[in-house]
Amino acid sequence: MIGFGQKNVEAVILKFQQYLDEPSSKRVRNAHINGFFFGYSNSARMLFLGIVFYIGSFIIRSGNGDSQNIYLSIWILFSTSMGAGIAMSNVPSVQKAKHSAGNIFAIIDEKSTLDVRDQPDGKLKEIASGEIVFENVEFHYPTRKSAVLQNFHMKIPATQKIALVGHSGCGKSTITNLLLRFYNLNSGSILIDGTNIVDYDVRSLRRQIGYVMQEPILFNASIKENILYGDLHASDEQVLKVAEMANALTFIESNVEDLDKDQRRAKNKQELYQRFT
Ligand SMILES: Nc1ncnc2c1ncn2[C@@H]1O[C@H](COP(=O)(O)OP(=O)(O)OP(=O)(O)O)[C@@H](O)[C@H]1O
Ligand SMILES: [Mg+2]
Repeated sequence: MIGFGQKNVEAVILKFQQYLDEPSSKRVRNAHINGFFFGYSNSARMLFLGIVFYIGSFIIRSGNGDSQNIYLSIWILFSTSMGAGIAMSNVPSVQKAKHSAGNIFAIIDEKSTLDVRDQPDGKLKEIASGEIVFENVEFHYPTRKSAVLQNFHMKIPATQKIALVGHSGCGKSTITNLLLRFYNLNSGSILIDGTNIVDYDVRSLRRQIGYVMQEPILFNASIKENILYGDLHASDEQVLKVAEMANALTFIESNVEDLDKDQRRAKNKQELYQRFT
C-alpha cells in the first residue's frame, strides 16, 4: 500500500472509467435502437387498431355492415399486425446473432499453424522407449511478448517418474503443452528418443502420451463417449479397463443416478458398465 499512494489510486480509477466509457456508450446506443423498434411495433399496432375501429364504426353507422363480421375482420387484422410488430422487434436480435455467428465461423475457418489432419507422409509414428530431452528451449505464447521458457534444459530418462515443482505461472503446464505440440517452439528443440518432436506424426504422438490437465474438460455426453474421445475405435472392454485403471469406476458407479441400491452393489462390472453407458 506504501507504493500504491492516493495519486496512483486516482489514476487507476480514471483509467478504469475511461475503459468503461466505450462499452457504456455502445450500450446506450443499442438501448435506443431497441427502444425505437419496441416503440415502433407497439405504436404501429395501436394506431392500426384505432384506425380500423374508426372505419368500422362508420360502416356500421351507415348501415352497410354487420357488426359481428366487422369485429371478426378487425380481430384477424389485429392478430396479423401484432405478429408483424413482434417480428420487427426481433430485428436487433437477428443482427446480433448474425454478428456472433460471423465471429464463431471466423474461428472455425481460421487455419491452424499445426493442423493434425495435414500431416505429410513419412513422419515417425512410434515412441520407442520414451526418453525426453528439452534442449535450449525458448517459448512465449503467441498472444504474449514475455517468454515463459528461456534457455530451458531438462532430461527425463525413459520410464523415470519426475515431478515439476514451481510457483503458479512458472511454466509447468506450458512444458506439457509443448511436449504435446499444442504450440511450436520459438527456438530450441524437444527430443523424444533422440528425435525432434516435429519429426513425429502429431496425431500418433498425442495418442501415445496420456495426460490429465489441471482443468479437465468433460463433453456433454455419456461417460463412455467422453472416454471414447481418446480413441473412437476402443472396445467396451477397453473403455471399462481404462476407467478401472484411472480409479474412476467407483466414482462412476456412485454417480449413476438411475441405479438403485441393489444395483450399486452389483458385482458384475460388465453389467454395470452397460447400464451407465
Ligand atoms: N494460452 C495462453 N496464452 C497466453 N499466456 C498463457 C497461456 N497459458 C499460460 N499462459 C501464461 O504462461 C505462464 C505460464 O503458465 P503455466 O500455465 O504454464 O503455469 P503453471 O506453472 O502451470 O502454473 P499453475 O501452477 O498455476 O498451474 C503464465 O504467465 C501464464 O499466464
Ligand atoms: Mg498449470
